[in-house]
Amino acid sequence: MARERTQGRGFATRAIHAGEHPDPVTHAHNTPIYATATFAFDTAAEKEDAVDRAMDGDPTAYFYSRTGNPTTRALEEKLASLDGAEDAIVAASGMACVSSTLLAHLGSGDHVVVGDELFIITRILLEDDFPRRGIGVTPVDMTDLAAVEAAINPQTKMLFFETATNPRLRVADIDRLAELGHRHGLIVVADNTFLAPALLRPIEHGADLVVHAATKWISGHGDAVSGAVTGPATLLKPIRKQVDTLGQAASPFASWLVLRGVRSLPLRSRAASANAIRLAQFLEGQDKVEWVRYPGLPSHPDHDVASRLIDGPGGAMLSFRMHGGIAAMTAFTDNLALCDVGVSLGDVFTLVYPQPKRDGLVRVSVGCEDVADLIEDFTRGLSFVS
Ligand SMILES: Cc1ncc(COP(=O)(O)O)c(C=O)c1O
Repeated sequence: MARERTQGRGFATRAIHAGEHPDPVTHAHNTPIYATATFAFDTAAEKEDAVDRAMDGDPTAYFYSRTGNPTTRALEEKLASLDGAEDAIVAASGMACVSSTLLAHLGSGDHVVVGDELFIITRILLEDDFPRRGIGVTPVDMTDLAAVEAAINPQTKMLFFETATNPRLRVADIDRLAELGHRHGLIVVADNTFLAPALLRPIEHGADLVVHAATKWISGHGDAVSGAVTGPATLLKPIRKQVDTLGQAASPFASWLVLRGVRSLPLRSRAASANAIRLAQFLEGQDKVEWVRYPGLPSHPDHDVASRLIDGPGGAMLSFRMHGGIAAMTAFTDNLALCDVGVSLGDVFTLVYPQPKRDGLVRVSVGCEDVADLIEDFTRGLSFVS
């Protein structure tokens, strides 16, 4: 019913309605939190049927919440709809989805070509864990198609990259990467955490699987840790099994929070992106700022690709560096009066992430506050930079 109700509807309508329908027993309008470990049956045969169907990959055959849960399933249906995917899996965190996607499709003797700028925990997984599993990894600049092609060898099974990298916000041409990957028979996987489906839908550009840290923009309120993978059922089936065998099930409480948050994703993405370009332009005009990286600025090396791929001005993440490096970074961040310093991103509030190990780079996840207040706070921070 939910699918029929939202079939062919616009993105904002699907963000609100897809996957959700009044509870068939109580008629509760809002999707309930199914806080249950197990599901009960009248007969042994019904139990056996549910277990068999669930173990065969049917996400709606509930018998135990590590394997499947209706609250989490509602979120899966919503995210599949938003990404234009056949189906989705929601798991405990973005890293649960990154690791299960890689491990379900790569084994000893296989090789994966990955972006040369990846979320640090993904990098640690690839660098520390994959060698002892016998999986080869080659990091490469995904904006350099010739380098990507040169890195592919007969053992290569997958291309894995982030759609806007952390922290330099490089944006590779997904259409061309997907064409290249498919020419070599590879599975093309995009981690779309930094943009989320309101701003970019990698499947529309040829990617096979999309991974999200739903903890970030999809949830949007900094109150849940969650992850998702979207794509075709055939590629998701082994990932669902891997999520189950590694025990990476989503908590129904977290899924419910994300379900609530994602309904406003289109509104939040629009407001945060509008703020981000204003803040990026403001920073680029400041003498104390050495450089700004924002895909919506003409000065960004991938501006043309980003303008084609990303809806709106260029996302809501930006990075900048001040003259004076780490000392300037500290003077700036430690004197902000409104924006907090933190490592996460994608929330309604602006978060500033200083990176002393990257020579004083400051990454900003721009929120939905009044932009005048953000500019005033950044002006204040900069006034403490000598
Ligand atoms: C690009 C990217 N992928 C994956 C993750 C992992 O998500 P989680 O923290 O939910 O495990 C993050 C977290 O910051 C991220 O930035």
